Amino acid sequence: MAFELPPLPYRKDALAPHMSEQTLDFHYGKHHQTYVDTLNKLVDGTDNAHKSLEEIILSAEPGPVFNNAAQTWNHTFFWSCMTPGGGGDPDGDVSTALEQSFGSVDDFKQAFTDQAKTLFGSGWTWLAKGDDGLEILQTKDADLPLKHGKTALLTLDVWEHAYYLDFQNARPAYIETWLENLVNWEFAASNLAKS
Ligand code: FE2
Repeated sequence: MAFELPPLPYRKDALAPHMSEQTLDFHYGKHHQTYVDTLNKLVDGTDNAHKSLEEIILSAEPGPVFNNAAQTWNHTFFWSCMTPGGGGDPDGDVSTALEQSFGSVDDFKQAFTDQAKTLFGSGWTWLAKGDDGLEILQTKDADLPLKHGKTALLTLDVWEHAYYLDFQNARPAYIETWLENLVNWEFAASNLAKS
């Protein structure tokens, strides 16, 4: 069965003014859709056509199949990392886990911001759970924690296509806006609970 673009968990204008409807039009409607369409073309008639997205990601060698499968997964995950009225500080188990691994929630935010700012080129900044607690991961291009045996809790897309329409080249403003107004801590909590 062909892979499909999953519905957004909110309306395309629901994250404005922090992330515009126009950005969602292009980022979800064009970029994400293209990764799904390209993946379907690449796997059609191959053994991968019968695998789940995760199975393809884990088994694929570096190259177009991995890139398009991972980007399909990454973007689906990313949409749930934001919510209207998001941002602020987490509570409960996420807050406790961040304090254990980073010292405080503010220290985590600073470290996450520094990592996202300094990722050179295109990639993703993740809050992930590994063997030694929570960690911040930088991945290039389509790479993701699953490929490294770690569980993703949150991610920020720092490909330029994620912020150029709203922030032009000002990646630091995009990161700050995301943390202050969009990040979905309840989604991180649900991922932590499942890990
Ligand atoms: Fe993206």
